[in-house]
Amino acid sequence: MEIREYVEKVNEAAKYIRERISEDPKIAMILGSGLGGISREIDVEKSLLYTDIPYFPLSTAPGHKGELVFGKVHGKPVVLMNGRFHYYEGYSMKEITFPVRVFQLLGVEIFIVTNAAGGINPDFEVGKPMVITDHINLLGDNPLIGPNVDEWGPRFPDLSNAYDRGLREMAVEIAGELGIKIYEGVYVAVPGPNFETAAEYRMLRRIGADAVGMSTVPEVIVANHGGMKVLGFSAITDKGDPDNLKPLTAEEVLENAERAGKAIARIISEVINRL
Ligand code: HPA
Repeated sequence: MEIREYVEKVNEAAKYIRERISEDPKIAMILGSGLGGISREIDVEKSLLYTDIPYFPLSTAPGHKGELVFGKVHGKPVVLMNGRFHYYEGYSMKEITFPVRVFQLLGVEIFIVTNAAGGINPDFEVGKPMVITDHINLLGDNPLIGPNVDEWGPRFPDLSNAYDRGLREMAVEIAGELGIKIYEGVYVAVPGPNFETAAEYRMLRRIGADAVGMSTVPEVIVANHGGMKVLGFSAITDKGDPDNLKPLTAEEVLENAERAGKAIARIISEVINRL
């Protein structure tokens, strides 16, 4: 697709949404599997199905509704993406990050992401949250490849504060106040869809990662390019211990994501309260 055509499509999607909501969201959230807790706290104004929004990518994953939810949390206008797009599903980087561009055009300033991730830091316990301090992109692709859209952001964006320091510190402080144990660490994104081999977990630890997953990095790159501040959380769902690797199922990941997700939802709620 020509880049100009992509820009037009994003513009049309944003226009469609703007005509249907009363207040532009300042905060956008994309939540990982089993991590939908915060959605119960939204005072919903309007839900829009992906299928109704012009050019919006469509969800293939079963159990994913595919809707954007607009409303308020602690009186602040938010948008929540119910159903995200993964690289392993076959979406292009431009498709995965289409919603993030729409959020940018709607005026979103803060982007909050969560995911389920394997714990490769040996100190990490399953079912606990991690604040993402930084990432490593091993997807082998990048949403910014191709002509740069100068009105959206710079050709060579800076990622020295990809996960905003102020927001991270606030999240850790809030976790402390709430008595929630939280880790801080580096998230590495791999394409998937298989979970890692023992040798791969070992390599990922050696290159400096604390947690591994199959999402988030494309959206975070585009959010930074578009000038948003990012706050990210991983739910540690399993131990990627290369010397003692146990068979892992998606069910186990989901179960443990839900445990960590409760803590993450409480932290996000209080972060939004203080913004
Ligand atoms: N590897 C990759 N993705 C994951 C994992 C993992 O161990 N756990 C949850 N998502």
